[in-house]
Amino acid sequence: MKDLLTLRETAADDIRALLDTAEAFQEIIKRPVKKVPTLRGRAMITVFYENSTRTRTSFEMAAKIMSAEAINISVAQSSVTKGECLKDTMLTLQALKADCLVIRHSSSGAAQFAAERIGIPVVNAGDGRHEHPTQGLLDMLTIKQAKGRLDGLNVAIVGDITHSRVARSNIWGLTKLGANVRLVGPSTLMPPDADRLPVKVFNNLKEGIAGADVVNVLRLQLERMDKGLLPSIREYSRLFGISANSLKAADSDVIVLHPGPLNRGVEISAEVADSAASAIETQISNGVAVRMAVLYTLMGGAGAPTTEV
Ligand code: NCD
Repeated sequence: MKDLLTLRETAADDIRALLDTAEAFQEIIKRPVKKVPTLRGRAMITVFYENSTRTRTSFEMAAKIMSAEAINISVAQSSVTKGECLKDTMLTLQALKADCLVIRHSSSGAAQFAAERIGIPVVNAGDGRHEHPTQGLLDMLTIKQAKGRLDGLNVAIVGDITHSRVARSNIWGLTKLGANVRLVGPSTLMPPDADRLPVKVFNNLKEGIAGADVVNVLRLQLERMDKGLLPSIREYSRLFGISANSLKAADSDVIVLHPGPLNRGVEISAEVADSAASAIETQISNGVAVRMAVLYTLMGGAGAPTTEV
């Protein structure tokens, strides 16, 4: 593996290996002193053209726990504001001799574009509405550990599917490891190619989450949405919001995921977000372990010294 750009193009065995590696790293995160020398001397650069709280911070923590340097380029303060194009920014980063680039961009395909132009590993931290593979992996790890397996589970992804890169990475990752994926939401928020995806589509919430083992709730991606796709936020919430009441249709042991940021009272009620069924905080912790696994795999951790304390 040189890059991690999509789960669609990542082999099932590579996904399994990344999840196993992440599970092994969870122990390090629980230590009082969270520091191992695994990636000492390596440097990761993060470039986020879109805002982020969880993803950028957890990449940075993952790198630092493994003793790699973590350098963030804040796009608002970079030469991008002077008109530098993506290609020139990428070539600059390559010349700086970083060992790995983590990129988030509003255009689908931006991470692929970067990977084709620079020789170092590239991790897609979200490209437009296309994919967000590390989010897909951390969702899979959370589900696998809560339920003991992925194979045969019924996972309902609810909400704004068409604008969601999280949904696409979940669909490819989960189905490759044997889960049954349902997409649930209004037809205006379903991707036009839904019939070519390995999923079942539901436009009714109760039917879509009936008996589901996992409900993964998505934010309305208003920043990517054309006007007129929804009658109103209130109407959306009434028909597709996950509340304690609507969740009764799911399996009694259902777990609820949300990639964040949450819009409480819109796609998910505060009661559900804070309930025992919610795995949202576990997802965030698992994000660090998954990103450690990705950085370790791509930055050649195997060849690095691991014996020193
Ligand atoms: C998601 C993203 O940016 O794609 N958030 C995240 O990475 N945790 C989902 C979202 O913004 O709603």
